[in-house]
Amino acid sequence: MKILVIGATGTIGRAVVAALSPRHEVVSASGHHSPITVDLADPISIRAMYDAVGMVDAVVSAAGLARFKPLDQLSDDDFQFSLSNKLMGQVNLVRCGFEHVRDRGSFTLTSGVLARLPMPGSAAISLVNSGVEGFARAAALEAPRGIRVNVVSPPWVTETLQSLGMDPSQGLPAASVARYYVESIEGTQTGVILEASKMSR
Ligand SMILES: NC(=O)c1ccc[n+]([C@@H]2O[C@H](COP(=O)([O-])OP(=O)(O)OC[C@H]3O[C@@H](n4cnc5c(N)ncnc54)[C@H](OP(=O)(O)O)[C@@H]3O)[C@@H](O)[C@H]2O)c1
Repeated sequence: MKILVIGATGTIGRAVVAALSPRHEVVSASGHHSPITVDLADPISIRAMYDAVGMVDAVVSAAGLARFKPLDQLSDDDFQFSLSNKLMGQVNLVRCGFEHVRDRGSFTLTSGVLARLPMPGSAAISLVNSGVEGFARAAALEAPRGIRVNVVSPPWVTETLQSLGMDPSQGLPAASVARYYVESIEGTQTGVILEASKMSR
């Protein structure tokens, strides 16, 4: 398969590229440091990326930013930023991408554990993660030509906890998270939220 990975230079994206590369042709895209650059928050940039890449069998998004702050400090701009980037960015990857994905291809988006298990400071992130999941469930119903739409919901990633100076023992290594993306791409499920966790692997 020819697979477009957006966020290919990130902690999760690098692991997804490593897992897919032995068996598939991977096209890497990201904000700044990939052969193909794209700004998820800009639909014009997303369309330009698809025009540059051509037809693919699968699209993976391991990108999307949202602001983490106490609710009473989240500004209008913080909400708008989070909605435009992680939520509408991934929604637009699907909307603009249908015509660039081959029959029976797939989209795999990324939400996160904070959709289901919020914590103080996660209101904007929990909002957009839940939005991504709701969108994917519905979009899967209307996707044309057998195209599938799934979401991977990662827990805290070990490498991320390490880089933040937090206890890494509660995290799941990026390589383990990447297996859920492979399962979404190579499997047959659609409209599914794959909850990556230590318990299920
Ligand atoms: N890591 C975790 O513990 C964890 C847990 C749950 C959910 N998640 C979610 O998983 C996703 C990836 O997380 P991560 O930790 O792997 O992120 P990361 O290491 O910070 O990497 C972010 C990736 O997104 C790209 N990017 C940044 N801004 C972009 C933009 N405007 N348009 C397109 N690409 C952009 C970056 O590209 P450049 O490097 O080229 O700028 C990079 O490839 C995020 O949505 C995050 O919320 C992560």
